[in-house]
Amino acid sequence: MNILILGSGGREHTFAYKLAQSDQCDALFVAPGNAGTSQIATNVAIGVTDFEAIKELVVKEDIEMVVVGPEDPLVQGVYDYFKNDKALQNVAVIGPSKEGAALEGSKERAKEFMIAHKIPTAAYQAFTAETLEEGQHFLETLQPPYVLKADGLAAGKGVLIIEDLEEAKQELAVMLGGKFGDASTTVVIEEFLDGIELSVFVLTDGKNYKILPTAKDYKLIGEGDKGLNTGGMGAISPVPFADTALMEKIEERVVKPTVNGLAKENITYKGFIFIGLIKVGDDPKVIEYNVRMGDPETEVVLPRIQSDLVTLFKAVASQTLDQQKLELDSRSAATVMVVSGGYPEAYEKGKVITGVEKIEDSIVFHAGTTLKEGEVVTNGGRVIAITSLDEDFRKALKKSYQNIEKLHFDRMNYRSDIGFDL
Ligand code: AMP
Ligand code: GLY
Repeated sequence: MNILILGSGGREHTFAYKLAQSDQCDALFVAPGNAGTSQIATNVAIGVTDFEAIKELVVKEDIEMVVVGPEDPLVQGVYDYFKNDKALQNVAVIGPSKEGAALEGSKERAKEFMIAHKIPTAAYQAFTAETLEEGQHFLETLQPPYVLKADGLAAGKGVLIIEDLEEAKQELAVMLGGKFGDASTTVVIEEFLDGIELSVFVLTDGKNYKILPTAKDYKLIGEGDKGLNTGGMGAISPVPFADTALMEKIEERVVKPTVNGLAKENITYKGFIFIGLIKVGDDPKVIEYNVRMGDPETEVVLPRIQSDLVTLFKAVASQTLDQQKLELDSRSAATVMVVSGGYPEAYEKGKVITGVEKIEDSIVFHAGTTLKEGEVVTNGGRVIAITSLDEDFRKALKKSYQNIEKLHFDRMNYRSDIGFDL
């Protein structure tokens, strides 16, 4: 079949890499893609939320499956757009309906869903400009640090963790005053959870599910988890502390009630659920849902899946995931993100990248790259992810770091301590 992937990051290059391995994949398109995807697929210069242009492409190229990478098109209803259009309704869309995507699109909705289905999470309350004073009083009843979350999508910047009460009250007013535009019209204040984070990925057809390998990402720019938040500087899979006992609790207390909750509420959901968890003591608590795969988590999760990804996605579309077996590579995977100097603040683009051809025994996933006059140049903050597999994550990391030494572009940066806390 002909397949289209929406997106342009390392996550989408990884999807392209896996889908291209399937003999069921005839033609592969990526919109808009990057320099890496252009080597294994056809890039099409279309934005991920330009539904009309996407429709035109799907019809013209006889595309039968669309795999949605980022959250924006899902939250804007790309699934529903396809299902409500006569020319598109038979296309398999891998991603939830708009109603399902609200689990990421609105933090308040996600909290209500968790409470309704008794899924363990931090205690919370939601406030708007009209209830600012109540919100400030609510903060007084909590212990520091204070967790303030913009309700809507805020490009990963909408969560603030503040030590000082007065500062938290002030920040609540600023957020409700429009700091994140419409995304912070509502602010969720929640209990701080103290523990270690991990992410669990679920592929569901709305009825059945498969739990994919766990992963842990490193979000802050600086070594030792310091400095500003980024999209993710590296990841490892599996997470060593996610033992059988913890995974059983996660499946029983979180995964099953989540999938069953969606079904009970009649929400169409054929895609990935990315569950952000904190292990508090020995118990998992949900901090967030994302309705897509993570980036760079995908770069360590998918290379460990040996099953044919097209077969799995077809089963998602036909709600027969229970008839599929998930085959996994038992080795560990690690990825290190190479970024532009200055990122996540201002950085320059267009730097020539050299040395990619010298990389051995690792997989190169392009993120912010593009082709300019035949050369691969930087085109974003996160530039290239180097993934390696080995018997444990330390050995895998060593390979990635050895290969990164062969890469070069002006002001290239990366974290040299991925996995430091494990
Ligand atoms: P989110 O955008 O919801 O993933 O939140 C960003 C980060 O804030 C998470 O990865 C956690 O590190 C942290 N965080 C979010 N909620 C809480 C919480 N209730 N307690 C402690 N840390 C949190
Ligand atoms: N790496 C975090 C995310 O994709 O949201």
